[in-house]
Amino acid sequence: MSEFEQTHELLDPKLKTCFGDNITYTKYYQLLQNASVVNFKRNKDLVDITEHIGDLQIQHGKDMYEEIVKLNMIDNLTLNRMIQINDFVGNPFFCDIHPKMDRCSPNSIKYVYHGLLIVKKLKDEKLNDIQFVEVGGGYGGQCVILQELCKLFHIRITKYKLIDLDNVVRFQEKYIQAYNMHHICEFIPYEEFKHQEYSKGSFLFSSYALSELSDPIRHEYYEHLLPFVDYGIVIWNNPFAVDLPKQHTEIAHNCHNITGKIFSF
Ligand SMILES: C[S@@+](CC[C@H](N)C(=O)[O-])C[C@H]1O[C@@H](n2cnc3c(N)ncnc32)[C@H](O)[C@@H]1O
Repeated sequence: MSEFEQTHELLDPKLKTCFGDNITYTKYYQLLQNASVVNFKRNKDLVDITEHIGDLQIQHGKDMYEEIVKLNMIDNLTLNRMIQINDFVGNPFFCDIHPKMDRCSPNSIKYVYHGLLIVKKLKDEKLNDIQFVEVGGGYGGQCVILQELCKLFHIRITKYKLIDLDNVVRFQEKYIQAYNMHHICEFIPYEEFKHQEYSKGSFLFSSYALSELSDPIRHEYYEHLLPFVDYGIVIWNNPFAVDLPKQHTEIAHNCHNITGKIFSF
């Protein structure tokens, strides 16, 4: 059997992305199995995947900062405090992003920016007592920041369901536990998501995840999850297909370096 055949024979379909067989979740999946919560944001291999810190990410951090300012929902002190919360665990590398910001991980700015978009939507739609379902939440930072933001804006979260690959949800649980914020969370491995109950009116969030899954897996979510979520924000980075089966609008932004489209329904 050729090397090509071996690689492709061994590739578990759940680790495939929409980007083809050279871009898979394999390394991420293996690394998170034994990663240390205390230090994982400095793990050389994970840095490439989650804690991006090149020039592009610094520019992206600046762009997201400008978008946060435009939203006009939190002051600078609160912004810095929110970011520090996510930077508190995992020992991230810090960057100078903007003169008005403390040194931080650009990834944490992303979680605050996306969190504010979610809170704005909840406020606009007058939603409270909300059940979140996050598909592909990475190490779990969005869940931590969103819980903090909801507290700040007096929004009650009844449940926060995180669906991801089994190794990844197990790591998310450890990360969120480090903040003692796991009590309202359910950590659901991808293999089990179809057998769960989702409350009507649930809110879906997914950034760079649902959109980039392989076509068959994305369609499993379309069939078994999307009918149960009435609201959502999805950061869409699939250049080949825009097929979210919900009537949605697009949230305009100026983060042209990285963010794809932001869909809201
Ligand atoms: C590019 S990362 C995005 C992480 C995070 N949302 C962020 O923006 O930082 C893609 C995420 O999708 C997850 N993922 C991969 N396959 C999945 C599946 N079948 N179901 C749910 N999540 C999956 C990965 O484990 C990872 O957490």
